[in-house]
Amino acid sequence: MSVRVVVGTQWGDEGKGKYIDMLAEGSDLVVRYSGGNNAGHTLVVNGEKYAMHLVPSGMLHAHTRCVISNGVVIDPAVLIREMDLLTDKGFDMSRLYISERAHIIMPYHRVLDELQEKARGGSALGTTKRGIGPAYADKTERCGIRACDLKDPEVFAAKVRENLAFKNLVIERVYGGVPLDPEAIIEEYAKYAQRLIPHIVDSVQLIGDAIDANLDILYEGAQATCLDLDFGTYPYVTSSNPIAGGACTGSGIGPRRIDEVYGVLKAYTSRVGEGPFPTEQKNEIGDRIRELGHEYGTTTGRPRRCGWLDAVMIRYAARVNGLTSLAINHLDTIGKLEAIRLCVAYEKDGVRTMGFPADLKDLARCVPVYEEFESWQDVDISHCRSYEALPKKARKYLERIEEVCGVPVGLIGIGPGRESIIQR
Ligand code: GDP
Ligand code: IMO
Ligand code: MG
Repeated sequence: MSVRVVVGTQWGDEGKGKYIDMLAEGSDLVVRYSGGNNAGHTLVVNGEKYAMHLVPSGMLHAHTRCVISNGVVIDPAVLIREMDLLTDKGFDMSRLYISERAHIIMPYHRVLDELQEKARGGSALGTTKRGIGPAYADKTERCGIRACDLKDPEVFAAKVRENLAFKNLVIERVYGGVPLDPEAIIEEYAKYAQRLIPHIVDSVQLIGDAIDANLDILYEGAQATCLDLDFGTYPYVTSSNPIAGGACTGSGIGPRRIDEVYGVLKAYTSRVGEGPFPTEQKNEIGDRIRELGHEYGTTTGRPRRCGWLDAVMIRYAARVNGLTSLAINHLDTIGKLEAIRLCVAYEKDGVRTMGFPADLKDLARCVPVYEEFESWQDVDISHCRSYEALPKKARKYLERIEEVCGVPVGLIGIGPGRESIIQR
């Protein structure tokens, strides 16, 4: 039996989906524990591309059961669309379970996300506008609507009416938006409820029973450490806890249950949306990485900001998540550049530091200290199947990353496909 967690170590889109798909092969249960359809996880299987937003990335293996647990916020229309797409491709959706404790994204969450971003003007966060922040805000404000409420039409309708009586005032009077009709929402969501009720379960029991039965459980992290509400570059973060600890609060298991934590990173760094990024390359290097790595958002299609790998950040992620190994992607992409840089420390006011500061004013004063590495431009590594087969220059880069971060590299991505992974 093992309980493994896969988390992002940077600002998301590290290629978590690819490793979850791979590790799901040896798992009985795959649990998505945080975020919502702000996530976009790409899997490439037999040359076919799948973009997963809410359905766990373990779904492509016929033997796995997949759980969307209580830490997730669910937009039912998006989930149903995704389930239909996968059903059309022949995947059996009776293996999908939804926690009755998961919160539901409502149309007013999406509207408020959009209006709030607009009102922030020049200091907008660059959210995905999927209603994620407002849905989590209602959860903590204790007026959220949960999956279990979908089962009781009267309770559901009363909550929608009560919430909208207040939200409409905010939408109209604070933001000058158009108020929403509660009855139309109640009718729309009644249809979603019909579809989703067969999947809604007590996931605490389901996961607890799996642990008691010594099954293999894989936790699918969405977003990443530096987007974490507590540990990320606040306020330029998402509204949940994507870190490994979020697997406990987001699904109802104790921390002692977790055996392994894989930290996924790219051999460089990318970020979508606003916020600080010490190693960003707003120049031809950043443009080159974006084109070579096809760095455009899976969820919103936005071009991703690109820069060098920041090992200070990965070291911080190693601590915050208790990483047991690193899973690095895009070694193929970075190897196509003429030379590679790695940030091994920051220099703040002339003093070298390894700390990742909370205050964005401090982070802005941090100047990356780089080491330069020779590239392996002349070698196509896409056919390498072992660590030893990789060029020496590539291994040197990986080994320096391990050294600075204090965590061994266990998995190496040399392409987007399921087969393009080297297990060390
Ligand atoms: P996630 O959100 O962490 O699952 O990552 P995304 O799917 O949003 O973004 C990762 C992108 O990189 C996707 O387009 C993947 O297909 C692609 N990808 C993942 N690993 C590799 C790799 O090792 N090499 C290359 N070239 N592409 C990769
Ligand atoms: P995956 O799981 C990259 C970013 C948004 C924005 C910030 C807040 O694919 O790695 P939100 O809509 O969550 O309130 O937006 O967080 N963001 C992501 N960036 N990958 C993701 O998920 C993200 N999920 C949210 O771009 O900057
Ligand atoms: Mg993504």
